[in-house]
Amino acid sequence: MTKEVILNYDDLLNMLDNQLREPREFWEGFYSNRDKEIPFFKIKGPDENLVEYYENGLNPTRVLEIGCGPGRNAIYMAQKGCKVDALDISQNAIDWAMERARKDEVDINFYCHSLFSFPFEPNSYDFVYDCGLLHHLAPHRRLSYLEVIKKALKPNGYFGLVCFNTDGALDTSDWEFYRAGSLNKGIGYTEKRLKEVLAKDFDILNFRRMKKITQPSEFFGEEFLWTSLMQMK
Ligand SMILES: C[S@@+](CC[C@H](N)C(=O)[O-])C[C@H]1O[C@@H](n2cnc3c(N)ncnc32)[C@H](O)[C@@H]1O
Repeated sequence: MTKEVILNYDDLLNMLDNQLREPREFWEGFYSNRDKEIPFFKIKGPDENLVEYYENGLNPTRVLEIGCGPGRNAIYMAQKGCKVDALDISQNAIDWAMERARKDEVDINFYCHSLFSFPFEPNSYDFVYDCGLLHHLAPHRRLSYLEVIKKALKPNGYFGLVCFNTDGALDTSDWEFYRAGSLNKGIGYTEKRLKEVLAKDFDILNFRRMKKITQPSEFFGEEFLWTSLMQMK
């Protein structure tokens, strides 16, 4: 097979992937030590905004969590009675999430899979949730990310997102990551930039900064994150 040739859009995406870090390797390393000082490593509870969505009437039957990490939010949604599929590219993260779910005696379908190759049944989820994946995604993968979410959701399905604002990471331009050859600490989205990404495909029902939750608490919250609840157009 000819190598390093661009014959279609997948070849182009693969070439751009190659300019930046390999995600699976990076995330396996990230989860290799559970004692690290990472805000969501120490906290088992769900995102405060997610709890608010449920308290305000969000009542999905089938949920897909993308980039579930150690499972905080998947476990909460399963405890609320949802049928949860939760995926993550890191086996270390999935092992940790499965341990926690077993301890909490909740039934969740965990998958070690990249979002981009996960063989889900189209239009089958009422709610897709992402806390922390989008801001670490290479810019050239963002369009495919949105396509996957739209394909996974039922018509009028809901999408919940938590991602860095400019207190979480720098507002680096999309092109700059490729000039630097690094995703650095991820993308810190301004409100305008994030809404430009989302507003074509989703009605934005709620958009706000996450509330800081002082620990110890049953919930997670940090002000360097945006939170949003949307509905597919
Ligand atoms: C900042 S962590 C957040 C983890 C979890 N959602 C939480 O808040 O506790 C981002 C997660 O996205 C996962 N991830 C990154 N790229 C992915 C991809 N292409 N497919 C699936 N998961 C991915 C990482 O392994 C990591 O667990």
